[in-house]
Amino acid sequence: MSHGESMTRRKLIVAVWKEKLTYHQSRVAAKQIAEGVRNRPWPFSVAIAPNPFSYVAVREELWSSGVEMAAQNLLWDTESGSYIGEVTASMLEEVGCEYVILGHSERRLHFSESDDMIAWKVLTAVRHGIVPIICFGDTVEQKKNGETKEVIRHQLGACFDRLGGLLSPSRVMLAYEPVWAISTWRSEHALPPGEEVSHLHGYIREIVAQMAGPEFAMEVSLLYGGSVSSDNANDYLSFNDVDGALVGGASKTPESFLATLHEAAGALTES
Ligand code: PGA
Repeated sequence: MSHGESMTRRKLIVAVWKEKLTYHQSRVAAKQIAEGVRNRPWPFSVAIAPNPFSYVAVREELWSSGVEMAAQNLLWDTESGSYIGEVTASMLEEVGCEYVILGHSERRLHFSESDDMIAWKVLTAVRHGIVPIICFGDTVEQKKNGETKEVIRHQLGACFDRLGGLLSPSRVMLAYEPVWAISTWRSEHALPPGEEVSHLHGYIREIVAQMAGPEFAMEVSLLYGGSVSSDNANDYLSFNDVDGALVGGASKTPESFLATLHEAAGALTES
């Protein structure tokens, strides 16, 4: 069996709302998504990552729907210090976040998050039983310079070198998000077709196998992100190596997110 063919990997699609929806909009959208998802046999888990201000309201709306919740960030410290404005892992646990998105390009680039800081955050999440979704990906300049694989290797290495033995493939997820494909950073490059993403995911699993062993590489879920929508979810999810998606722009309305879920589900039930 190749690294891409595990049957046990968890599949997940996450609506990443960033700061785009207000408290009220988040509540309304969460309710509609919960209604659209509830009582259907989806071939993947579904989660919403609202802004922190709306975590509690969204959790209330998702109650008993099966839709999970992801945090957009957490404080890296074990909470002994004082950090005004931050949200701790205990708070995320209390409100019921199953996942936390870490290492996202917008935090790496706008908030200067370092490899060290990201690794600490990953460790903090793991210690609190929250599954970190570790994002990594190349910028348009790095792509133009042919550095994509090197960048991926470096960003993954920064986590695995520091945390290797502490990570378990069922308690962590990876997300390849080429910065140039994310809607907010979109460049002149056309979005990569599923085949190209699948090829890179195969490479990523090889690197993970070198860093954490072949079993880890085969068992860890590897999501994709970058302008995923109802137009392309079917293509991306039809590849074995793509275990799900982070959906930003196309999750801003419940209608477009639900349409994306339906397309993704179609790919998995067809294959
Ligand atoms: P996008 O965002 O779907 O709008 O490109 C994805 C992300 O930022 O994770």
